[in-house]
Amino acid sequence: MTHAAKARIYLAAIAVLLLVIAAMAYKFIVAGSTQEGQDGRVAIVLEPGERALMLREMREFVAGLQLVAEALAREDMPGVAGASRAMGTPKTHDVPAALMGKLPLAFKTLASATHRGFDAIAADAQANGTSRHALAQLGEVLKNCVACHASYQVVTAGAAPGRR
Ligand code: HEC
Repeated sequence: MTHAAKARIYLAAIAVLLLVIAAMAYKFIVAGSTQEGQDGRVAIVLEPGERALMLREMREFVAGLQLVAEALAREDMPGVAGASRAMGTPKTHDVPAALMGKLPLAFKTLASATHRGFDAIAADAQANGTSRHALAQLGEVLKNCVACHASYQVVTAGAAPGRR
C-alpha cells in the first residue's frame, strides 16, 4: 500500500472516530434519553432507581417550599435563606453522571435555572431582603416548575410510552 493510501485510511478512521464522539456528545449533552409521551409531553426514559431519585428530589422541593412559606409568614429571613439554600445549586452535585446524560439539554437548563433561583432567594434573604421581595422571586422561580412539568414526564425503561 502506498503512503498516500495509508494516510487516506488513517484520515478516514479519524473522521469516523470524530463523528462517533460528536454523536455521543450530542446524545449525552443535548438529546438525552427520551420518547414521545402519550399525553403529548416528552417522556424521559430512566431506570427505576433514577426515576425514584428524581421524584424524591421533587418531593424535597415541596418540603422546602413549605419551610420557605412558613418562614416568610414569620418574616424570618434567615429561615427563608436556609430553606432556599437547601434547594440551591449544590443540590445538583448529587445527580449521577449516567442520569445527567439521559436528561435533555432544555430540561437541564430549566433545572439549573430553578436551583440558581433558589440561590438568589437565599442570597437576598441573607442580605436583609424583604419578605415581599423573596415572595416575588419565588413566584418567578416557580414558573420553572410549571414550565418543566408542562413539557416533561418520566417513564422507566421498558415501559410503554406514557406508562410508568
Ligand atoms: C427541569 C424540570 C423540572 C423542574 C424545574 C421541576 N420539576 Fe418537578 N417533576 C419533573 C418531572 C419530569 C416530574 C415527573 C412528572 C411525571 O412523570 O408525570 C416531576 C415530578 C414532580 C413531583 C411529583 C413527585 C412524585 O413523587 O411523584 C413534584 C411534587 C414536583 N415535581 C415538584 C416540583 C417543584 C415544587 C418544582 C419547583 C420548585 C419542580 N418540581 C421543578 C420535572 C421538573
